[in-house]
Amino acid sequence: MQEHYRFAGFMGRRVHLGICGSIAAFKMLDFMRILLDADCMVSATLTDAASQFVTPLSFEALGASPVYGSMFDPKSADSFGHLEPGEIADVMLVAPATASTMARLAHGLADDMLSCQALAFNGPVIVAPAMNPRMWNASATQRNWALLKELGFITIEPQSGLVACGETGTGRFADLIELLPAVFKALSPQDLAGKKVMVTLGPTREPWDAVRFWSNPSSGTMGACVAVAAWLRGADVTVVHGPVSLDFHSGIKQVPVQTAQEMFDAATGLWPEMDMACCTAAVADYRPVPHGAGKFKKEGNDNGINVQFENNPDILKTLGKQKADHQRLIGFAAETSSCRDEAERKLVAKNLDLIACNRIDQAGSGFGVSTNRIFVLDAHGRKEQWPHLKKTEVAWRLWDHLLLA
Ligand code: CTP
Repeated sequence: MQEHYRFAGFMGRRVHLGICGSIAAFKMLDFMRILLDADCMVSATLTDAASQFVTPLSFEALGASPVYGSMFDPKSADSFGHLEPGEIADVMLVAPATASTMARLAHGLADDMLSCQALAFNGPVIVAPAMNPRMWNASATQRNWALLKELGFITIEPQSGLVACGETGTGRFADLIELLPAVFKALSPQDLAGKKVMVTLGPTREPWDAVRFWSNPSSGTMGACVAVAAWLRGADVTVVHGPVSLDFHSGIKQVPVQTAQEMFDAATGLWPEMDMACCTAAVADYRPVPHGAGKFKKEGNDNGINVQFENNPDILKTLGKQKADHQRLIGFAAETSSCRDEAERKLVAKNLDLIACNRIDQAGSGFGVSTNRIFVLDAHGRKEQWPHLKKTEVAWRLWDHLLLA
């Protein structure tokens, strides 16, 4: 799982996993580890069919507690195990969900441990199916799926492609990158619900000839953390990103661009419909005046070359100028010295509500690492030097800070 989905701090929150009989069941072991890394507590129920694919012992050994089995198995927790998750867990995830478990949930049957627990669960229940495409497309399954949506279950669509039985079609278990945000969202405050948020991230790439470009080492991780944190807290999020190797789950809208001018056009076009924007992109301030069409040849150019640059537009400054009263704008500053002075200068010059300044010349901060050292300053003059933090934590705190400001 990429860094921008590795949120932590869900201390004391419990996720109950309901695992059914599918070849994809083994993936839930990996998934459980990610939840434990995020400080969640995890309990699990394996249906009888699930236990044919993975063992309760594997879940126990990796940290799930309790692990429930059959309803009338004397070894299976206590006699009220069928009610317990509803009392102690914050969210329930039924995954991979088989056609028969989907049918049980859709019709309120309570004839095994998992279906009883789901029926007695008042919190959010997420369902992520996995099955053969013909079983998925069967009218009964489709009707049950529609019913689950109508009943308020959080549903994660199966994917299309090659399935374990060798057939191709819809029915593949969703990637963990679709499951994890759904679980984290159910555990997060929805204090950005109803807000439209835009995040710029990554580097821009300014071409000089057909094969060469001017850019920088930004991976886009900081911005991706900001975007995912906003989504987890209920926002409708669009990312405008330069060339990056980041995966986003389907809930986040993406506008891929290459150059600063393209990022400028996309961001200024979207800004009027946004409530908030956070510009984390490492935009190239200058672009080389292009050499011309085709590849520049070194033949006859043995004494070095001169490349001329022209200015790119400042995206954040433009958004700041166009900012309406209800809009909030966050900027970043990448510095090698004078973090505080530069933060103060850029906050005013770009008409920001909040600026986060990071040192890009210190170990564990800036480009290409999973942590950051941040100094924040807001338009009310509130200043804070934050400790060395994971970028996911920095992102979370930025939204906290903005909502307080
Ligand atoms: N930014 C932008 N468009 C640019 C340059 C910067 O949107 N053409 C944004 C960045 O995304 C960041 C903020 O402006 O949020 C500050 O970027 P930074 O590179 O720190 O500063 P600059 O304004 O470019 O100034 P300098 O390079 O002189 O420090």
